[in-house]
Amino acid sequence: MRVAILTSEAVPFAKTGGLADVSGALPKALTEQDVDARLILPLYDQIDRGFLNGDSIEDIRVEWRGQVHHVRFALSDAAGAPAYLLETPEFFARPNIYGYKDDHIRFAYFSRAALALLKHLDWQPDVVNGNDWPSGFAMQELRARRRYDPFFQPIRTVLSLHNVGYQGFFDPGDLWWLGFGERPEVDDFMLERSASALKAGIIAADALSTVSPRYSREIQTRDQGHGLDWLLRSRADRLVGIANGVDYTIWNPETDPDIAANFSVDDLSGKRECKIDLLRRFGLPQDAERPIIAVISRLVKQKGYDLIRQIAPAIVQTGSFFIALGAGASEYEDFLQQLHERYPREVGIYKGYAGEPLAHQIEAGADMFLMPSLYEPCGLNQMYSMRYGTVPIVRATGGLDDTVEQFNPSTGTGTGFKFGPYEAGALLEKIREALYFYGRPDDWKKIQRNGMLVDNSWEAAAKKYAELYREVAQL
Ligand code: ADP
Ligand code: GLC
Repeated sequence: MRVAILTSEAVPFAKTGGLADVSGALPKALTEQDVDARLILPLYDQIDRGFLNGDSIEDIRVEWRGQVHHVRFALSDAAGAPAYLLETPEFFARPNIYGYKDDHIRFAYFSRAALALLKHLDWQPDVVNGNDWPSGFAMQELRARRRYDPFFQPIRTVLSLHNVGYQGFFDPGDLWWLGFGERPEVDDFMLERSASALKAGIIAADALSTVSPRYSREIQTRDQGHGLDWLLRSRADRLVGIANGVDYTIWNPETDPDIAANFSVDDLSGKRECKIDLLRRFGLPQDAERPIIAVISRLVKQKGYDLIRQIAPAIVQTGSFFIALGAGASEYEDFLQQLHERYPREVGIYKGYAGEPLAHQIEAGADMFLMPSLYEPCGLNQMYSMRYGTVPIVRATGGLDDTVEQFNPSTGTGTGFKFGPYEAGALLEKIREALYFYGRPDDWKKIQRNGMLVDNSWEAAAKKYAELYREVAQL
């Protein structure tokens, strides 16, 4: 089985969120399932050139707007599976991964170049697995090319949906010169009065996957389909939910090189050192008896920051520390700044994308981790938290509901605390419940241990992906 994985971000190369963690881990995990999985992504400016092998594939012909471009892909094994990184300074030598007016052009170009690479290598995968809206173009293009190019004819496609809230909208006036100006392509892209790369990808892909089972059902409802529920319902027979895994070679408190002390389920003593270290890093009083409630997330509505904002003073008044790491919308960054100024001895903040070490230090040093998401396709930090003995407090939505089990004191089962309604009061109540058990060390240890013992390794997920690829290859 050969699979080409197209992605816009992957650890260790470039990251804004969980897609990078998944794209970085899945190819490696697939390799262990005897899948020849190869990663294709853009070579952004920010990518550390130390990850590259030094070899490259030269002189690949990409037809673009009536001209032939000759492009180059750099090679890397840093993700534990072969990776090809497209060098096109015009589109990718920029400080950020997304957020430009021509993002749709950049990823349409990337899609075209990725397919050209496959042909140039004469490496014919059974499946091209795209990710999110940036791969919508490749799904469309591959379907079109199958009609006239024998090289592409046997290749099948899977589009993995990590977040239906991001649809890659652009001006339909650009469709023509992007190469999607004919029917049925135009109709496939059109959503209301815009063109949507995600919609076009959902229509063209042979099969779809989402990053948790519950999310695969949620996006088929009007409430959570972001305007695409009707389309996703119509494709329900080809839609499967596979929960993400955790890369335990990276997220493991027993071996993590970035944390102050290593610890394990049998000996949690190092966690206290990590806690002191975390308080020190954020300039907070080093009082290890008081609980630390932490959050790491993109600062967007999806992550439930509106709820956190409403109850932040109440959290501080419980006597807990509150530590937040996040980058994103200025309204939430301003809120964090003001909260910190008001409670400098209780609240620690880091605004911006901090890279990996600080995220690991927070996971290791905190006692509780908040994820009150409005919606959450899978979510990774709740699973990282569990591994680090940090108890997640989550809203029962998407992958959070699939991966966290509410603690039940009478049976001693459960890995965290879970609330239903998207309401600040419900979140605060769960925080208080968690704090109550924090005050009962035997119960708390039980919850920590339950979480640390959960096996969310990639192996199980990779098996499901391999099975999906086998089914799709038969189509
Ligand atoms: P999403 O992909 O929606 O952002 P996930 O929970 O799947 O949410 O993954 C988020 C990933 O991004 C985690 O690895 C988390 O540690 C990381 N992350 C998020 N924000 C930051 C930040 N500001 N600095 C460093 N890492 C971050
Ligand atoms: C998306 C989702 C997140 C998921 C991640 C990786 O960014 O928001 O829930 O964990 O993709 O699949």
